[in-house]
Amino acid sequence: MSITAAGALLPDWEATADVVIVGTGVAGLTCALDLAGLRVLVVTKGAPDEANTSWAQGGVAVVRDEHDPGDSVAAHVRDTLVAGAGLCDPAAVSLILAEGPGAIGRLIARGAHFDAGPNGLLRTREGGHTANRVIHAGGDATGAEIERALLATVGSAGSSGLPAVLADHLALDVVLDGTGRARGLSVLAPDGRIGLIRATAVVLATGGAGHLYAATTNPGVATADGLAMALRAGASLADVEFMQFHPTVLWTGPGDLGHRALVTEVVRGEGAVLIDATGDRVMRGVHPLEDLAPRDIVSLAITRRLATAPGGVTDHVYLDATAIPAPVFRRRFPTVSAACLAAGIDPTRQPIPVAPAAHYHCGGVVTDLDGRTTVPGLLAIGEVARTGLHGANRLASNSLLEGLVMGERAAVAVRGDVAAETPRAAELVLMPPPGADPAGRIELQATMSSSAGIGRDLPGLLAAQSAVASLGDVSDGVGGATVTRASVEMANLVAAAGALLAAAELRTESVGCHVRTDQPVPAVAR
Ligand code: SIN
Repeated sequence: MSITAAGALLPDWEATADVVIVGTGVAGLTCALDLAGLRVLVVTKGAPDEANTSWAQGGVAVVRDEHDPGDSVAAHVRDTLVAGAGLCDPAAVSLILAEGPGAIGRLIARGAHFDAGPNGLLRTREGGHTANRVIHAGGDATGAEIERALLATVGSAGSSGLPAVLADHLALDVVLDGTGRARGLSVLAPDGRIGLIRATAVVLATGGAGHLYAATTNPGVATADGLAMALRAGASLADVEFMQFHPTVLWTGPGDLGHRALVTEVVRGEGAVLIDATGDRVMRGVHPLEDLAPRDIVSLAITRRLATAPGGVTDHVYLDATAIPAPVFRRRFPTVSAACLAAGIDPTRQPIPVAPAAHYHCGGVVTDLDGRTTVPGLLAIGEVARTGLHGANRLASNSLLEGLVMGERAAVAVRGDVAAETPRAAELVLMPPPGADPAGRIELQATMSSSAGIGRDLPGLLAAQSAVASLGDVSDGVGGATVTRASVEMANLVAAAGALLAAAELRTESVGCHVRTDQPVPAVAR
């Protein structure tokens, strides 16, 4: 890599594709597979299956049979709007949920196996749902099965018109032409050389941002890369303040930080209840749906209960699943069982210690319902995008569905763009790679957890903005001579944290996942 006198970057290598997709979760792979026949490169900084999708437990919320007497797409729409606390885009909700059944059918045709009984697919319930409409796979390994099926379909790299996956390649930045249109992606290869992939369309499917916080259910790859790349490319973001905290993440001690094991909400769907250290029910009297209230309400209730330190315990409550027969629990929740047993807890005999942790970013890069961002040629799908489906709080298990539907829709849009494009070698200017000192990562995460977690106030948000900004200096001073995955991730975390904190400062109301302790919580019944 070298830098010109004008400060631009000269890449070490170049490649050309019709489409470059960043991320190998359900959205990115669905989009890539639907673009079969085009030259599609899928870039991921880790192994192909290292995506948030692989870790999703609960399932996919979808109404497959409109004639189900207990359910309808209209009811699913209503539940989504209620969970979103008035900030969903109703058009996005209606369209995405209506297209869900077809998208699930096509996923099954691609080889995904969902758990079935004598009368078809089994369905369960999660928080905020008024009907049993969550389908699942492998008990509580739904995301892993979806990821397996999609990667198996992708098959060997580049064969028979299928997408090629470039593993261990870190996306650095969207590359724009002189008109501000996206024309490619700069990438750090495993050998340390920086490449330019020219493409007619760039699709961000980078997943989540959980590692903005000290504890998260997200895998290590979820470092807000797509948000930061979109910001640097000049795309609009919205609802960035709405980080959803999952109420029941396995708690194994105060020093247990980083990626933490999820205890799926479906355990509550099957009858488990939250209790405090004195055995008192946490959700009784808080919401008519009690333990199956929308997720933001449950996480807030736990946080408030812990503030009063019942039984002297301030850092976790318990999920009591002992009423579920042991063989049923083990068969239904193999992933949760294994995580509990590894921590020395037998969930069939003792309550599981749990605490909220960062789980899902409801906001993100603003897109239309074809996945197009405000930057021409740049699309965003899946968790990194903000379609308007989630509003201020995502309804449980709506995310895999959104990834599927938007992956399909973006593929249709991109195929049209590629067909309409006249190939030409545009003059492209690459900016030096982002970089910040990774030594500040733990401080950033601690700052975000203490000042932008469940409960925020203006002084805390302002102090956090200064603290985070001070961590964002370019580390090598020459624009990337020592660029590493850690330095790029740190720059991305700093950029995304700054956006989240600024959005949280500006929203001076408490709504959904965004609880401003210096503003009253609205008395709106949800
Ligand atoms: C869970 O299984 O509890 C998580 C599902 C989701 O985040 O939608």
